[in-house]
Amino acid sequence: MLSPISLDRLENFAEEFWAQAKDKKVFAFHGEMGAGKTTIISALCHYKGTKDVTGSPTFSIINEYSYSENGENKKIFHIDLYRLKDEEEVVQAGVEDCVYSGSVCMVEWPEKAPDLFDEKTVHVFIEPVSERERKVEISLSPA
Ligand SMILES: Nc1ncnc2c1ncn2[C@@H]1O[C@H](COP(=O)(O)OP(=O)(O)OP(=O)(O)O)[C@@H](O)[C@H]1O
Ligand SMILES: [Mg+2]
Repeated sequence: MLSPISLDRLENFAEEFWAQAKDKKVFAFHGEMGAGKTTIISALCHYKGTKDVTGSPTFSIINEYSYSENGENKKIFHIDLYRLKDEEEVVQAGVEDCVYSGSVCMVEWPEKAPDLFDEKTVHVFIEPVSERERKVEISLSPA
């Protein structure tokens, strides 16, 4: 992304993001506390027209959303690894199954289980630049 993303332009950002991400499935969101990972993931899900499947327990580790695209029912997993200790806990929580499910999977605090993410993972780096603006870098590996 060239210019900082402002809070009130997240919908435009989501449009660009999905245009670039195309058929990518696994997205790892890096950034400190309060950087904007959850906010940006929510905007990306909202853009797809997601509905909450799990009933939105705000503090659960794995949230599942459904949406329909080209007449097909699809899923997005939004996963927050923050409260898990290590890779073993991450696997026990069922995160690995989501990551390899073939559904879109967006993960906060991927640093908790770096080995879970293969070279197809899209890494997204978020950094605050001002109160309402964030720098977002997306590392899309070639094809
Ligand atoms: N351009 C922006 N993009 C995203 N968030 C923004 C932006 N500008 C301001 N914010 C605000 O920054 C805060 C980001 O909080 P959020 O919970 O998304 O961070 P987080 O990275 O998920 O933190 P945590 O690691 O604690 O889960 C929100 O209050 C949001 O409104
Ligand atoms: Mg968060």
